[in-house]
Formats: sequence, C-alpha cells, structure tokens
Amino acid sequence: MRERLDSRIDRLQRRCVAEPGVLSLAGGLPAPQTFPMEALAHALGRAGSDALQYDWPEGREALRAFVAERLQRRGASVEADQVLITNGAQQALDIAVQIGCRHSRGIRVPRACYPGALELFAARGLQLVSEDAPADTSYVMPVVENPTGIAVPRPALDALLQGDGYVIEDDAYAELRFDGRTPPPLLATKPERVFYVGTFSKTLCPGLRVGWLVTPRRFRRAARRAKRLIDLQANTLAQCVLEQYLAENDFEQRLTWLRRFYAERAAALVRALRRRLPSVSFVEPEGGFSVWAVTEERGDDVEFLATALRYGVSVDPGRDFRPSGDSEPIAFRLAFSSLPPERMDEAVARLARAFRSFARAHRHTERQRRAV
Ligand SMILES: Cc1ncc(COP(=O)(O)O)c(C=O)c1O
Repeated sequence: MRERLDSRIDRLQRRCVAEPGVLSLAGGLPAPQTFPMEALAHALGRAGSDALQYDWPEGREALRAFVAERLQRRGASVEADQVLITNGAQQALDIAVQIGCRHSRGIRVPRACYPGALELFAARGLQLVSEDAPADTSYVMPVVENPTGIAVPRPALDALLQGDGYVIEDDAYAELRFDGRTPPPLLATKPERVFYVGTFSKTLCPGLRVGWLVTPRRFRRAARRAKRLIDLQANTLAQCVLEQYLAENDFEQRLTWLRRFYAERAAALVRALRRRLPSVSFVEPEGGFSVWAVTEERGDDVEFLATALRYGVSVDPGRDFRPSGDSEPIAFRLAFSSLPPERMDEAVARLARAFRSFARAHRHTERQRRAV
C-alpha cells in the first residue's frame, strides 16, 4: 500500500531536529517543561510489585474509574467497565476502526485533519471521504481540532448525531480549551453509536503512552479481544505510575495551569502572524497546540518546508493534513505548543522571509515555464 506521508517531509524534519539553530513550529509536541518530572518520579517510587506484573486487557480499575468519572461529570453516563485503557489515543483509534468499521468502505474526515488518523484510516483500507459527503462512519474532534485549534460548529455536530453511522470521537485536546469550557461529549447523546477516544498525552506527557477508548456497550467484548490480540494489555508500569500520580496530585489544578500556559503561547503566535504574515489566513485558536495557516500561494509545500528550514524555522506542510494529500494552495500547521512565547516573533519573522522567498522563486519558475 502506498504511504500517504511524503518521505521527503520525514527526511527534512529529521534533519532539522539535528540543527540547533532551527526554531520549530512543527511537530505539535507538548512543551517538555510542563512534564511533572518530580511528581512522576515520586509516583514511580511508590508503585508496588504489581506495577511489573501482567494485568487484564481492559486496564487498571482505578484508572478506568478516573476516566469514567470525568466523562460522567461532562454528562455522559459511562461506567468504568466500558473504558478500555490503551497505549495512547492512536491505539484507541486503531481498535475503534478494527471493530467499528469492519463493514465500512469510507470514513468522513475533516478538511484539515490529524495526519495520524488519516494515515491509519487509509492503511486500514478506508476511503477518506470529504466532510460534506456521506459515509457510514465519521471521525471528528468536536471540542478542539488538530490542526485548526478550534471547535467543530454545533450545527455540524447536530447533523452528525442525527445520522445513523458510527462516530469516532477524538477528544485528545478537549481539556485544553483555553476558556476551560469543556462541553458534553457526543458520547453523552449517542452512546450506542460513538467510539470515544481520549489520552493523557496532551495533558500529562506522551511518553507514558496512556489513552483510552469507550465503545458502545455491544462492542465491549470485541474491544477487549482486539486489545488482547494486539499487545495483551496497556503497559502496567505506566498505568500504575499514573494511578499513583493522580491519587497524589490535583489534576484539575494542573489543567487550569496548562490552559494558561498554552493560551499565552497561542496569543504570541497570533500576534506574530498578524504583524509579520498578514497575507496568511487562519482562525484564532480556542485551544490545543496549533493553528492552521492557509495561503493563496501555489506550488510544492515540501519545497516550502525546505525553504523554511534554510531560513531557520520548521513547520508541518499542509498536504499531510488534507485527505486528498494536495499541496495547493500552500498551507501549513504552526504549532505554538513547544516554542517559548519570547521566541515566537523571531520564528514567524523567519517564516515570513521564507514565504516571500518561496513565492518569488515559484513565480519565477512559472514565468519561465510559460515562456517555453
Ligand atoms: C487529534 C489527535 N488524536 C490522537 C493523537 C494520538 O495521541 P496519543 O499520543 O495518545 O497516541 C494525537 C497526537 O498528536 C492527536 O493530535
């Protein structure tokens, strides 16, 4: 099967990680200084020998209860026994696809979509269907989308709930809305049709690889079986550390702090874009880690990335986020999450210079092509 992701992007981005001078607006990684190193080390020290033992495929009871309780607070009547602990949200998506899309040919996805989902759905043989077309399953990030950083409009969600297909609801960034208003998940309205996916990767750290899946009740056994077949169970050590951490720390307080932390970075990026790159269209993010910037320029966005790297800044090219894989019009994801606010203006100034250089070169090539 043809890979969706362009290997040139991987090569360029790996090279840029090795170059210390490059300011990164790429990757969409959480800021490492937010990782609670000491608290996690303390939690690790308190873990008992069962942290190194096998466990059940569905995951540890206390963790499942924690997830269920948070969902209940948002209006979903979820019991702990419906929660399956996974190795990150990515695995939860995969299990949802394996058991919920066995008879689906296509999946409806946002126009600008998390590339890990697009790559997974395509690799599992699902046709990627554009937002407005019908399909038997839909993938949606209702509260905060990656890459746009905004919520899906309510009428679109209502239309989705009125349909009769399955919905994969990815709430990876829901708790990182800057205003702290986390609405009820779709799961609360249609538990019989929603596969709900969540993760600690964005709110705590991705290295632990702990996420979860809530399936409609009738898929519960199939989900456990799928998990057992893939890897028996989620990592016990990571689950125990997390359980202990959550018992010893105020997670709600952490979320409040994180929202402020990322909101400050988002505001710095927005200011820099308005000042340095006013020709680029974007919507001010409401949460999450990134902004989706669309230009009127044409050409190869991987070439644009190569140009940006020469100017000392990296971004994620738009083609990875488009179900069609199209490069045009040139767009890119700008992640504010891992760059300190005081570096944002410089990063965008470099981006603006790279963009002007790319646009000039592209126009020059086009003129030459027409002249031949
Ligand atoms: C929208 C979305 N869903 C899922 C994931 C995967 O998260 P995890 O690290 O929990 O596998 C990501 C990671 O970037 C994401 O952005």
